Amino acid sequence: NEIYLNGLGDVRPGLPTDPAGLEEAARLRLPPEAFGYVAGSAGAEATAAANLAAFRGWRIMPRMLRDVSRRDMAVEVLGTRMPAPVLLAPIGVLSIVHPDAESGVARAAADLGVPIVLSTAASQSIEDVAEASGDGAPRWYQLYWPKDRELAASFMGRAKAAGYTALVVTLDTFALGWRPRDLDVAYLPFLRGVGVANYFTAPVFQKAVGGPVTNDNVQMALLHWAANFGDPSLTWDDLAFLREHWDGPIVLKGIQHPDDARRAVDAGMDGVVVSNHGGRQVDGAVASLDALPGVVDAIGGQATVLFDSGVRTGADAVKALALGAQAVFLARPYAYGLGLAGEAGVRHVLRCFMAELEVTMMLAGHARPADLSPEVLVRV
Ligand code: FNR
Repeated sequence: NEIYLNGLGDVRPGLPTDPAGLEEAARLRLPPEAFGYVAGSAGAEATAAANLAAFRGWRIMPRMLRDVSRRDMAVEVLGTRMPAPVLLAPIGVLSIVHPDAESGVARAAADLGVPIVLSTAASQSIEDVAEASGDGAPRWYQLYWPKDRELAASFMGRAKAAGYTALVVTLDTFALGWRPRDLDVAYLPFLRGVGVANYFTAPVFQKAVGGPVTNDNVQMALLHWAANFGDPSLTWDDLAFLREHWDGPIVLKGIQHPDDARRAVDAGMDGVVVSNHGGRQVDGAVASLDALPGVVDAIGGQATVLFDSGVRTGADAVKALALGAQAVFLARPYAYGLGLAGEAGVRHVLRCFMAELEVTMMLAGHARPADLSPEVLVRV
C-alpha cells in the first residue's frame, strides 16, 4: 500500500521497477567492464539462461477466499530473524560498480532488517562493513576457503568478532570459471584498481607479501591473492577444520547433487545453499531450480536448504520457497541497483522485491511462507 499510494520514492524516476529494465539501465549507464563483471557468466552463458528459464517451467496455481488479511512474511533461519525469506547474496568487489560498495548494501539492508552475506572478496573490510551494517543488524559471512589455513582461520575469527553470525562456505569457486566477459577486459589489472580489502587488510596476508599492501607491491599482492584464492585439493574430510574455527551455523553454498547435500549433513553442516553461482562457474550445468527438489528430498527434513541462481521476481521466490527452500538469496538485481543509485538503489530493489513477493503470495492465497508447498505449483 505504501508503494502504490506514495509512489516508489526518491529513486523511482531514475530506476526501473522490473528486473529486466534494471539490467538494461545498468547496461546503458555503467562502465562496460563493471556491467560485464556483474552480468557475465561462464562460457556460452547457457546455464545462466537455464537458471532463468527453469522458473518458467513452474506456474503458481492461485487459491481464492482464504482470508489473507493477516499476513506474516517473517521467518527465522539458522537463528536469524528476517522480515521475509530473503537475504542478499555475497557479491565480491562491489566498488567496481559503485563507491558505496558493500557498506552501502549493508546500510540499505539494515534499514529493512534484511540480512547481508558479506563476501570474502569484498572491496571493503569485514569490520568496516559490520560498522555500516550497525549493531543488531543481521549479517552472515561468506568464506572463500583459501589455500593458506592460517588466512582462512583469520577470516573466520574476524567475521565472528565483528558480529557475523552464520558462515556460508562457497564450494563451487575454488578457481574462477571461464568468463569471457571478464577475460575480454583482463581481470587482474582491473582488480588492481579496486583492491580486495579483506585479503589486503589481513595480517596473515601482509606477512606473506612482506608488509602492508601499497601501490608499489600491489601487483605482487594480487598474484599472491590469485595463487591463494582457492584450494582445489579440498575434500569432505577437510570440513572438520571449519568446525574447529566457527562455532555458529555453517552452510555449504554451491550444492546441486542430493548426495552432496547428504554428505554435508553427515559432516555436521547445518545446511546448504542450492546454487550454481548464477551460472558463472560450470557452463552447461543443470539449472539451479531443477536441482532444488532433489536436495530438498534428500535433506529437507534435517537441515536448512537455501536457494539462489536466477531469482529475479517475487514470483520466482514463491516458486523456490514452494519447492522447499527456506529462504532465497537475491543477487544480481541488487548489484544493478547499487551500480545505478548506490545505497538508495539497493533499498529500491529490495523494497520492490519484498513487496512483490508479499503481493504475489497474498493474491495466490498464502499468508505465510510456511503455507507454501509443492502443491501450490503446477509443472508445465
Ligand atoms: C557472485 N557470487 C558470489 N558468490 C560468493 O559466494 N562469493 C562471491 O564473492 C560472489 N561474487 C559474485 C560476484 C558477482 C558479480 C555475481 C553476479 C555473483 C554468486 C552469488 O552469490 C549468487 O550465487 C549468484 O549471483 C546467483 O545468481 P543470480 O541470481 O545473480 O543470477
